[in-house]
Formats: sequence, C-alpha cells, structure tokens
Amino acid sequence: MTPHISVMTSPADAQHDLIAYLDFHAESGVDATLDERPHDRFGEADAPAPAPRRAAAPQPARPALPPRGEGHAPSRPAPRQTFGQSAAAKPDEAASDARARARAAGTLEELEAILRDFDACPLRFTAKNLVFADGGPDARVMFVGEAPGADEDRVGKPFMGRSGQLLDRMMKAIGLDRTEAYVANIVPWRPPGNRNPTPQEVSVCRPFIERQIELVDPDLIVCLGSPSTQTLTGTKDGILKARGRFFPYRLPNREVRALATLHPAYLLRQPLQKRLAWRDFRLVRAALDGKA
Ligand code: URA
Repeated sequence: MTPHISVMTSPADAQHDLIAYLDFHAESGVDATLDERPHDRFGEADAPAPAPRRAAAPQPARPALPPRGEGHAPSRPAPRQTFGQSAAAKPDEAASDARARARAAGTLEELEAILRDFDACPLRFTAKNLVFADGGPDARVMFVGEAPGADEDRVGKPFMGRSGQLLDRMMKAIGLDRTEAYVANIVPWRPPGNRNPTPQEVSVCRPFIERQIELVDPDLIVCLGSPSTQTLTGTKDGILKARGRFFPYRLPNREVRALATLHPAYLLRQPLQKRLAWRDFRLVRAALDGKA
C-alpha cells in the first residue's frame, strides 16, 4: 500500500500527510519491518502458490551464539536447517520438537542457549531479542507474564516498561524485589506490534516455560493475566473469575501452587481493579510466609 498524496500538495503538506500515514500505522500496531521491500499481499492472494521451499534452504544470517562460560555449554540437538518453516506448516511437529529440546536442558543457562538456537517459532524472526528472564534463579516465587512488549524486546528482559514498573511497585509493597523473585513470560519473543500471541505460538513456546519453571523450582508461581493463567493451570475461566485462586502445579518432584492475578498492563488501563490485585499480592505474601 502506498500513501495517497496528491501531486498538487506542497512539500510541507506531503510531509505532514506522510507523518500522519506513519502515525496511523504505528497506532494500529504496524511498527515492525519484516522485509526490505513492501509486499502486495492482496495481489499475492490471486497469484499461483509459490513452489514449496526446499528443506535445505540456507540458514538466515543470524548473529552467532554469544560465547558461553565453560560448564554452561548445553548438550544441544543439531541446529535446524530451515527458516522456521515447520512452525508455520506443522505446529504439532514444532511443539514436539520444542518439547524434546526443552527436556534436554539441565540448567537455565542451557535452556536459554537452546531457545536462542530454536527457530521453529516465527516470532523470533521479527523480535530484536530473546526475552528470557530477570531476577534471581533461586527465588521462591516466580512471576509469569504473557509476552514481551517493545521495551522488553529492546532491553532483552521481561517487564521493563510501564507494566514492569507497576509490577516492581506491587512486589515492593509485599517486601519483594527483583532479586527475590524470578520473572519470565509464556512467550519469550515480542509478537509484532504487541499483538496477542497466537495459540500456535503459545503451544510451541509452552514446553520452554514449563521447563524454565521446573529448573527454577519455585514454591509459588504467580500467573499474571489470563493467557499465563490458562496456559499454566489449564483453567478455562476468565481472569476475573480465576484471580485470587491457588491452582495445583506439578513439578517433577513435588506439587506447588500457582496463584492467578491480574496483569499489570490491565491494571494500568483499569486502575480501580488494583484493589483486587492488592488482595492477590497479600495472598502471595501470606503463601511465602506459610500463612495461606
Ligand atoms: N507484558 C508481559 O506480559 N510481559 C512483559 O515482559 C511485558 C509486558
């Protein structure tokens, strides 16, 4: 699509139109470039389907893995030879590949390295950074959000923007800071334009967050918002019904609890609901103190 700018407009008007056009797209969530050239997707719909890609297509030019400290080298499966095509074509295959890779991780460092190499989730190709985790890996409480936004994508850590600041204040109110908690997301790459991750993207990424939880081995998981709650607890209840409830969560050697609460981004839009979140955060404190 090209901007409709009349040849009769002055350069200043044309510039103004262009800025308005770009603003409109940014506000609509079109804020990520996927390719050097624009594509006419409407035209493509009428064109014959392209020939299937060969499995041995060359690897995209991705930055090499950063060197890791000795003793952290993961026992990784062989790198994939495709450009993430399997995720689009066969989500089940991508999810079972993800499960096998996640299971192979014996430490959080290994899991992070495996995720850096994993290309069956198309989100990694539009994101700037993998957003793996923040906080203390020995924490007793683990907060799990949905997916990174623009700030997190830029920094490479979860909950860095306005919702992160609110989360920090809520944690501080119950005597926690980021070193005493571990923070991660269901999906570790930013969906373009902050759209919600699709069910396929969630199911491909799910084995990784499940393994991450196993490796942190927290006493309590706090699910921030509905996608995190539904993915980790299996409930179909909406977040306003599920919040404030403890769900059993099975770890390899023990059962712990997952508490559902409201997502900080929702609280920024609905500040009155903070009173509900405050009740939930008091439950977090009580659970950590062995009183709930
Ligand atoms: N929202 C999330 O769910 N996760 C983040 O990391 C940031 C915003």
